[in-house]
Amino acid sequence: MQHPLDPLTVAEIEAGRAVLESAGRVTSTTRCAAVLPVEPSKEAVAAWLPGETVERRILFVALDTSSGRSAEAVVEVTTGTLESWTELTTDVAPYGQPPYLREEFELTEQIVRADPQWQAAMARRGLSPEFAFCAPLAPGFFGRDDEAGHRVIRSLTFLREDAHDSPWSHPVEGLIVHIDLTQRRVLRVEDEGNTPVPSSDGRFGTPAALTERVTLKPIAITQPEGPSYSVDGSAVTWENWSFRVGFNAREGLVLNQVAFDGRPVLYRASVPEMVVPYGDTSPTRFWISYFDAGEYLLGMNANPLMLGCDCLGVIHYFDGVIADGGGHAVTIPQAVCMHEEDYGVLWKHTHLDGTADSRRSRRLVISYFSTIGNYDYGFFWYLYLDGSIEFEAKATGVVFAGAGVPGSSSPHANEIAPGLFAPVHQHLFCARLDVSIDGDANSLAEIDVVRMPTGPDNPHGNAFTWTTTELTSELEAKRVANPAAARVWEITSGSRRNAVGKPTAYHLVPRASATLMAQPDSSVFDRATFATQQLWATPFSPAERFPAGDYPNGHAGGGGLPTWTAADRSIENTDIVLWHVFGPTHIPRPEDWPVMPVDYSGFTFRPYGFLDRNPALDLPSGMIHDDHCAPHGSHHEGHGH
Ligand code: NI
Repeated sequence: MQHPLDPLTVAEIEAGRAVLESAGRVTSTTRCAAVLPVEPSKEAVAAWLPGETVERRILFVALDTSSGRSAEAVVEVTTGTLESWTELTTDVAPYGQPPYLREEFELTEQIVRADPQWQAAMARRGLSPEFAFCAPLAPGFFGRDDEAGHRVIRSLTFLREDAHDSPWSHPVEGLIVHIDLTQRRVLRVEDEGNTPVPSSDGRFGTPAALTERVTLKPIAITQPEGPSYSVDGSAVTWENWSFRVGFNAREGLVLNQVAFDGRPVLYRASVPEMVVPYGDTSPTRFWISYFDAGEYLLGMNANPLMLGCDCLGVIHYFDGVIADGGGHAVTIPQAVCMHEEDYGVLWKHTHLDGTADSRRSRRLVISYFSTIGNYDYGFFWYLYLDGSIEFEAKATGVVFAGAGVPGSSSPHANEIAPGLFAPVHQHLFCARLDVSIDGDANSLAEIDVVRMPTGPDNPHGNAFTWTTTELTSELEAKRVANPAAARVWEITSGSRRNAVGKPTAYHLVPRASATLMAQPDSSVFDRATFATQQLWATPFSPAERFPAGDYPNGHAGGGGLPTWTAADRSIENTDIVLWHVFGPTHIPRPEDWPVMPVDYSGFTFRPYGFLDRNPALDLPSGMIHDDHCAPHGSHHEGHGH
């Protein structure tokens, strides 16, 4: 039975495309740059009864590759109705283009390779173009007449020794090709300097570049009675938790209607944007500031985990359904992985009589991986038995490097292998948390721990306290983290109180991370303003989904959060959406080469008076089977080495 929040199906996307076609909106040059669900209103979801017909709407972002014109088409697929067709004003400031099509990456390579100036630049450097890789890269926005309002891309060249070599280890420094994708031509070629191409071997993986070690003994995770979760379509229940799994081409994994003991916590949670700004002054890289969701589409690039799942245990997979450039449905098999993990000790106490009580923690992991060019990003949601939710981004893959003189130094790039200089950069994710703490009527406050001067209120100097500052409007709610004050943000219910008479609440607990490092007069500051704060809060509006705006590609800036919050709307006792920015600021190191160990970032969303006491007192004590934990540990093989 279909639920209103279920992700799009293959049949729905095909039916929607057929509606566009019969309406005469699909020509030989029409492509679909994004195909996304238009989610039903909260009122419609709340009023829906199982068995009722569900209205299903799809947004097709259509692009005419011959003219560069684009439009948003909304199709209602149950009745087969084209509800709207809205041209996008991509040629008027502040511009903005639909995300790139896969076929435009191939087109970029063809245009570069056929260009006489690029060929001459390669010849001047004595480089063979045979195995060259022409990376297709979002160019940022710098207001040039032939770029503003046009569908443009840039390409940097990397060499490969053969077709299987990792391209990222052999950058051709100072060769930058600017391309107009609509006109299918090179706008200009920058060809600077004579830096040699680094020869450092960047190969890894299979076939192994090294002999694999044989010292690790197997660890087997077995769940002989099966998993503790149950799944019905997109609906999942696990212990006290219930939620629905969603997936779309832009955001990837979405969690809907997350509840604990049947009480709402999050109406919807996703990571709808991230920006990767580079801190390098070089002509080859100063402009780099990829928006991996808005320009490249995170869900579109989700890994089919059937080809290599990274999880252990009894796994449930959800497919991801997206559309190709032709607007036809494509299934990413096993795009989302769900499984349980043992997580050490949840609580423990050794009593006065020497006996101990201990219970093990377990978490439910819902995750996917997306590969955007050189980088791979894991998006991991964790639900815990104590009512906590954690999100963790895992950044791995290959760092993006340029070439330099071996042994030289740069304030903006670290030499990570001989001649290979990896610029300082940031990966700034933005989570969108449509919170719902015991219902929609919520309020927001900031809590800091504060010192108190020694005096009448603190006669011994030891005392300290905490302050609770109500954040009642959008401008008040633009906040940065403060680890030195143990700062957290509290979301309270306007309708329910706990056992000690306080409003039920959750805390958003940030981890230490930097905000956007670029200057306010830079282009990327305007385009990625969301990343200048760690917290924003807005009253729920269905149109406000993407923190850098709907179309950050080629956008001059100002879209999304800075525009919405300028109205300074009230966020008191209402339906609040939190926008939380986090992520690593990366000064690459030799250990990141040639493939980077996972760099972790994220946040916790933790009950704080939402529950009246520890909700995990009833965990069974008999879940610890390892003999090592028995009070008088029996000797058996494995001891005495
Ligand atoms: Ni990085």
